[in-house]
Amino acid sequence: MVIKMDFHVLTLFPEMVSQGLNTSITGRAIDKGLISLNTVNIRDFSKDKHQRVDDYPYGGGAGMVIQAEPVYESYTYLINQINKKYDNKPDIKNKQTRVIYVTPQGPVFNQSMAQELSKEEDLIFLCGHYEGIDERVLEMIVTDYISIGDYVLTGGELPAMVMIDAIARLIPGVLNNDTSSEFESLHDNLLEYPQYTRPEVFQGRRVPEILLSGHHAKIEKWRREQAIQRTLNRRPDLLPEANLTPKEREYLRQLQQ
Ligand code: ADE
Repeated sequence: MVIKMDFHVLTLFPEMVSQGLNTSITGRAIDKGLISLNTVNIRDFSKDKHQRVDDYPYGGGAGMVIQAEPVYESYTYLINQINKKYDNKPDIKNKQTRVIYVTPQGPVFNQSMAQELSKEEDLIFLCGHYEGIDERVLEMIVTDYISIGDYVLTGGELPAMVMIDAIARLIPGVLNNDTSSEFESLHDNLLEYPQYTRPEVFQGRRVPEILLSGHHAKIEKWRREQAIQRTLNRRPDLLPEANLTPKEREYLRQLQQ
């Protein structure tokens, strides 16, 4: 189990990432030292006198391409920084730090990927812009290509922030309630059951009676059934992978008829 996770972001817009993640729950996790966020500006590694990092694509076509050199140099700087942390921990030092290129050209990020990535000590996110990054440097440094969905954004910063948020909340202590990251949407591949709070009646709508009964076992059963119903109605594609008891499978069969 990782006790602290260091996120590193290679980007042309470091303030976008740090301002977003220094807020709310991820911000508090950074303050508490449970995670850290290290942004590296690719532009700082440009050797051009105007600090340009992009150029026209070979072969022609629209848009600009980020050059290999500033990306490679910023990566090397970062890897040296990371390795220094582990000077007297050779087992970690020799481990390759995963470099995630956020791009629509990858498998779509999901909860089990978040879980798997939350086991790393360090993660590097590489954010592109314009028409992309010179393929040669991607071949040299990227270990994972990950998308956040089948649509195209203007840059990789928002996807990197989405992934960092989803991973960070799985680190112990980041959420106030230690167990809540397990017991909610997409745990067991089911959507979350509906939630209610005071008042008991809102504009004529009552809170389901069972929730006021104090009968914990019955409430638990009702919530599981609601989760199954909701998943069937809203995300039936999740159900084949859902972790259901034989009784719950029977309940689902009845709903489907
Ligand atoms: N960059 C641009 N669009 C993206 C997407 N959908 N996912 C990840 N990175 C992206």
